[in-house]
Amino acid sequence: MQSFLKAAGWCALSAGAAAIDCSGINALSPKCNSTEAAYTRDFFYVGGEYVSSTVSGQSIFTGQMYVEKLTPVRGINQTYPLVFVSAGVPSGTVWLNTPDNRKGWASYFVEAGYQVYIVDITGNGRGGQYDVAAFHLRFGSTDNITQDGFTAPELAAHPYPQAGGHDKWPGAGVRGDPVFDAFQVSIVPLAANSTTQERTMRVAGCALLAIIGESVTFCHSGSCQYTVLMADECPDLLRASINLEPSCLPFQSLLGNPAGPDG
Ligand SMILES: *[C@@H]1O[C@H](CO)[C@@H](O)[C@H](O)[C@H]1NC(C)=O
Ligand SMILES: *[C@@H]1O[C@H](CO)[C@@H](O)[C@H](O)[C@H]1NC(C)=O
Ligand SMILES: *[C@@H]1O[C@H](CO)[C@@H](O)[C@H](O)[C@H]1NC(C)=O
Ligand SMILES: *[C@@H]1O[C@H](CO)[C@@H](O)[C@H](O)[C@H]1NC(C)=O
Repeated sequence: MQSFLKAAGWCALSAGAAAIDCSGINALSPKCNSTEAAYTRDFFYVGGEYVSSTVSGQSIFTGQMYVEKLTPVRGINQTYPLVFVSAGVPSGTVWLNTPDNRKGWASYFVEAGYQVYIVDITGNGRGGQYDVAAFHLRFGSTDNITQDGFTAPELAAHPYPQAGGHDKWPGAGVRGDPVFDAFQVSIVPLAANSTTQERTMRVAGCALLAIIGESVTFCHSGSCQYTVLMADECPDLLRASINLEPSCLPFQSLLGNPAGPDG
């Protein structure tokens, strides 16, 4: 609340000359300029199907994938579209501005002249639908897992050997730090059992590529199992598959993520 009052700018106005704080969530103030690239946006859904709901005789739509299309205002001068697949823990928002409100990945590629698509995987983020049996949810990440795994591995009780070299996360990287909290608040639940998600992502992922044509996919962490499946399902539609810290490598996590049966 305190930071939001600041965001509203009343302190700055009453003080006259004081600079407006546009860091992090304060950038929501209309007084703050966006750091993002100039693009136009369209959204749509692909994939999925009607299934019976818990209300007799009525159906829900499930297994669909949310897609956002970002088109550079300055025009496209690159051959292949880029498809950014959500990391499974944050939704597709992870490719937009950073938690401390610096420019994100999507903007860099929009500025470089690419047609950019961002998706929320099926059953996750804006792809979510009420289908308890298919997408029984578990937590995405706890404060401790985020801290030890991503934002401050050097402070973990049992750090990996090179953790001391980690210096990329802005701020203290611990709960209570505004940048950490802005990241943690973006974390959404995961499906406890990926089987349905893998089946629906084969369909929805390839339905997207069938519409937009041969593309380059980007994934990070938990989303990489889905772009690998897309490469298996519709290989001719993937120009390249770029996998960042993919979850599907055969290495043991030092942290684990113990709530899921397949975590
Ligand atoms: C926002 O951009 C405008 C136009 O460039 C500039 O005059 C203004 O000072 C900027 N505001 C902030 C808070 O940086
Ligand atoms: C495309 O346009 C962007 C933005 O003007 C520029 O940075 C980039 O070098 C251009 N790339 C090609 C392949 O023309
Ligand atoms: C979680 O992190 C807090 C703060 O660093 C620490 O006090 C606590 O022991 C941790 N809990 C577990 C279960 O690791
Ligand atoms: C996951 O769901 C599939 C399909 O419903 C089921 O066959 C499988 O046993 C489930 N796996 C676990 C670990 O619950």
